[in-house]
Amino acid sequence: MSDFVRPPTGDLSPAELQVSLHRVAEWAFHYRTTLEARAIGPSTQPGDIAARFPDTMPAAGVPMSTVFDELDDVVMPGILHWGHPSFLGYYGSTSNGPALIGEIAAAALNVSAMTWKTSPAATELESVVMRWILDLLDFPRTFFGVVYDTASVALLHALAAARELAIPAVRARGLLHREGAPVLRVYASEQAHSSLVKAMIMLGLGENNIVRIPTDDVFRMDVDALRAAMIRDRALGFQAMAVVATIGTTSTASVDSVSAIAPVAQEFGAWLHVDAAYGGAIAALPEHRSVTEGLAAADSVVVNPHKWLFVPLDFSVLYLRNPDTLRALFLETPEYLEGDAQRSNETTPDYMDYGIQLGRRFRALKAWMVFRAFGRDGLVSRIREQRRLAEDFAEWVTATDGFELAAPLSMAVVCFRFRPPGASIDVVNAANVAIVQRINAAGGAYLTHTTLRGEVCMRIGIGNMATTTEHLVHLWTQVLEASRDLDVPM
Ligand SMILES: Cc1ncc(COP(=O)(O)O)c(C=O)c1O
Repeated sequence: MSDFVRPPTGDLSPAELQVSLHRVAEWAFHYRTTLEARAIGPSTQPGDIAARFPDTMPAAGVPMSTVFDELDDVVMPGILHWGHPSFLGYYGSTSNGPALIGEIAAAALNVSAMTWKTSPAATELESVVMRWILDLLDFPRTFFGVVYDTASVALLHALAAARELAIPAVRARGLLHREGAPVLRVYASEQAHSSLVKAMIMLGLGENNIVRIPTDDVFRMDVDALRAAMIRDRALGFQAMAVVATIGTTSTASVDSVSAIAPVAQEFGAWLHVDAAYGGAIAALPEHRSVTEGLAAADSVVVNPHKWLFVPLDFSVLYLRNPDTLRALFLETPEYLEGDAQRSNETTPDYMDYGIQLGRRFRALKAWMVFRAFGRDGLVSRIREQRRLAEDFAEWVTATDGFELAAPLSMAVVCFRFRPPGASIDVVNAANVAIVQRINAAGGAYLTHTTLRGEVCMRIGIGNMATTTEHLVHLWTQVLEASRDLDVPM
C-alpha cells in the first residue's frame, strides 16, 4: 500500500478528493456504457463477499485507490445488474443519466429537509416536484404530496392517519385499555401488495384483520364481494377502518376500479387508500388516464416514481386529500428545532411534520433533474414506448403455439405461460420455473415468475429506458429455446 497523507481534519485532501471524484465519474461512465456486455447475475456464492472482509473494522484507513480496487475486485462480482437493458425482473430499473448525476449532487450537499429553514431549496424543490407529478398524472390538484423512501412506508403513514380517525386520540392514549371497542378491519384484494401486512403489524392492528377480497377473471377486486364482506363484518361488530384499492397490482398490473370502490368505502366510513405505486405512472398517457377515474374520492394515493417515472430508488410519493390529519398525528417538534419550525405553510411546509422521519434526504433533487432533463414530453414518450414494447411481446406470446398470456396485458407488465397442450398443472408449473431459472443462470437476460390462482407463469416488467425491441427479441428467443429443450410432449 502506498504512503498517503490525510490532512488534520481526517478527510481526503483536496487532491485525493479531486482525483477520486474524477475516478468515480469515469467508473460510473464505464459501468453504464459496458453494462450490456456483462452477465446480469452475480458470479459469487452466498457469503463470498462478506468472507473477503474482516469481522472487525480495520483500524487503519487506506487510500481511496485501494478502496476503488476493492470495489471492483470484491463488490462488483456480487452485483445483480438491475440496470442491464435485458433485466426485466420486477419493474425494470429507473436509473438513467440525470438520475445518476442528481444522486451525486445530493450526496455532495447532504442537507436534511426537516424544516423549510434547514434546507429551503430541498423543501421547495420537493413541493415543486410534488406538483409536477400531480400535473403529469392529472391527479386532483388539491392533493398534498410528501416524499418517503418507499410505498410500504407511505402506506404505513396513510393507515396511521386512518387509524387516528377511526379511534380518536390514539396518538394521545394509545391502543391499549380500549375494552369493548370494535376491532378495526382493512379490506384489500387478494392481489394487493404484502406491504399491507407489515403496516398492520406496525400499527398494532393485527394482520388477521386484513380481509382479502376475491378478484374477478382479470384480477380486479370484486366490488360486490367487498361490500358483502363489509356488511358481514359490521354485523359481527367489526369496524371498517380502510379499503386499499390498487392501480397496477404487483403480479399482473391489474387495476381495481377506484370509482366503484370509493362509494363503498364511503358508505362504511372507511379511509380509501389507493396503491398506485407502479401503475400511477401510466396516467401520464392521456389514452390510459381512465385508470385514475374516481381518484378524487381517495383519502390517500401512493405513487412510486422509483418504479416507473425514471427516478431511481428510493422515491415514493404519498398524496393526501386532507394532509391535516397526518400532520396532527405526527406534529412533534424537538426543542432544538422550535426556532426553525414554521407552523404549517402550504407552499413551504416543514415536511418533518408529515411523518415519523425527522432527518430527510434531499430526494427531490434527483427527481427534479430527471424531470428537467427529459421534460414532460420525454417522460411521456418513454412510458408510451415501454407500453408499446410490452404490447409487442404480448403479441409474440399469443401468436405462438404452446404459449399463452397468463393475465391480460396491463401497463408494461406481461405475464405469460408455457403450456404445452395436455400437460398437467404440475408439469406446467415446473416447466415455467425451469425456463426462468435457465435464462437467469445464463446471464443474458433476467425475468421472474409469479403464481396466479395456483399456476406458475413467467413475468416481465419493462421500465428501463435502455430496453429496446432487440432486448425483448433476445429474451423471447431464449424462452423458445428453453421451452424446446425441456422436451415436454406437445
Ligand atoms: C403495487 C405495489 N405496492 C407497493 C409496493 C411496495 O413498494 P416499495 O418497495 O416502494 O415499498 C410494491 C412493490 O413492488 C408494489 O408492486
